[in-house]
Amino acid sequence: MDKLIIQGGARIRGEIRISGSKNSGLPILAATLLASEPMNICNLPHLNDITTMLALLRCMGVGITINEKMCVEVDPTTLTDYEAPYELVKTMRASILVLGPTLAKFGKADVSFPGGCAIGSRPVDIHLRGLEAMGAEIEVDGGYIRARAPNGLKGARFAMDKVSVGATENLLMAAALADGVTILENAAREPEVVDLAECLVAMGAKISGIGSGTIRIEGVKELHGCTYTVMPDRIEIGTYLVAAAATGGSIKLRGTRADILTSVIQKLEEAGAEVEVCENTISLDMKGKRPKAVSLRTAPYPAFPTDMQAQFTAMNAIAEGTGAVTESIFENRLIQVHELNRMGANITLEGNTALITGVEKLKGAPVMASDLRASASLVIAAMVAEGETVVDRIYHIDRGYECIEEKLQQLGVDIRRVPG
Ligand code: UD1
Repeated sequence: MDKLIIQGGARIRGEIRISGSKNSGLPILAATLLASEPMNICNLPHLNDITTMLALLRCMGVGITINEKMCVEVDPTTLTDYEAPYELVKTMRASILVLGPTLAKFGKADVSFPGGCAIGSRPVDIHLRGLEAMGAEIEVDGGYIRARAPNGLKGARFAMDKVSVGATENLLMAAALADGVTILENAAREPEVVDLAECLVAMGAKISGIGSGTIRIEGVKELHGCTYTVMPDRIEIGTYLVAAAATGGSIKLRGTRADILTSVIQKLEEAGAEVEVCENTISLDMKGKRPKAVSLRTAPYPAFPTDMQAQFTAMNAIAEGTGAVTESIFENRLIQVHELNRMGANITLEGNTALITGVEKLKGAPVMASDLRASASLVIAAMVAEGETVVDRIYHIDRGYECIEEKLQQLGVDIRRVPG
């Protein structure tokens, strides 16, 4: 297993380009299954999760080619198989996103049941109940979700009892080809849901209320192909901004959007950062200062994103003062705290809240990545620590950060990858 070796004491300085969003690239690739013609998807990040989704589509018979502009051409007209096998689903839970579109388009889908993961049990009951409300018959058999709708899906009114990004996406895709109108209540408002909805509209779907808690979808008979450019990755943007703030540095990010990061930018300003937003760039300058600790609570968009919680925990670990970080989305998402404490942080856990009292310096140590965003927090901690940190199990980080060591090297960090 590859490892990252990081020498502490860096002060981030420089400019990098932000990649396309993993979390909107994944549902958008799944949405190509709905089209009756080939689609071109541009600005996809080069990440393991995206490769897994392409492998999944390919094993269903979908034609995949990469054109000269590095856009991925997806031809769903050659689909032969309706199954998402365990071997692929077990490596990426987001494989569940092929369930809605496959069922809506072909009347049947067999998708391996995704298991839990390090951050919690992560059920898919809302996805299934929503599809059942649209007339699907669903059985769980031999570890597979077997969904059938031989006469097509029917529009329905469905209220989600918890805001779920994945369930909103699955149901949005399914409803696009259903017969009649679907109203999704208590829908997720995350920018990635908006990006998917805009792609569906570009394919000919009729959707209103995009970005609100109530989405109305009028099913159409067919969706056509289109070229769609995936939005920038807001979590990658946020992670590099926090890295710059934690190291007292300054950074300019190109290919960004600030409107999807309001809560994160607000917290960085509270920590003492000067943030300047232009049309496609965000710059942050910490002017060499130590950050001030901030308190936050994760919640569905537009509140503070759970995917940025671990990075702020790492920043608080070396900040001035005490911050309380509460995780309200996932049950076990403060796991990075134990590794941060091994590096000399002063963090205590009280239920789903981490109380973090900043220390002047962390100490480099061998640490283990446990999930994607937790591993980003360890890399940030390593940059502000004294001495060397070895981050093991970095396959987690490769699922979500394109060329992380190249980008950090460009920003002046002494980081290298060693094959395990
Ligand atoms: C997506 C993101 C992930 C992010 C999360 C929350 C992708 C590929 N991943 O994950 O990075 O951290 O949103 O912003 O886009 N739940 C249920 N039943 C369900 C579905 C969800 O109880 O059927 C619960 C989950 O266990 C969790 C909460 O709802 O506690 C939110 O999960 P959800 O929004 O569905 O997360 P994902 O779509 O899996």
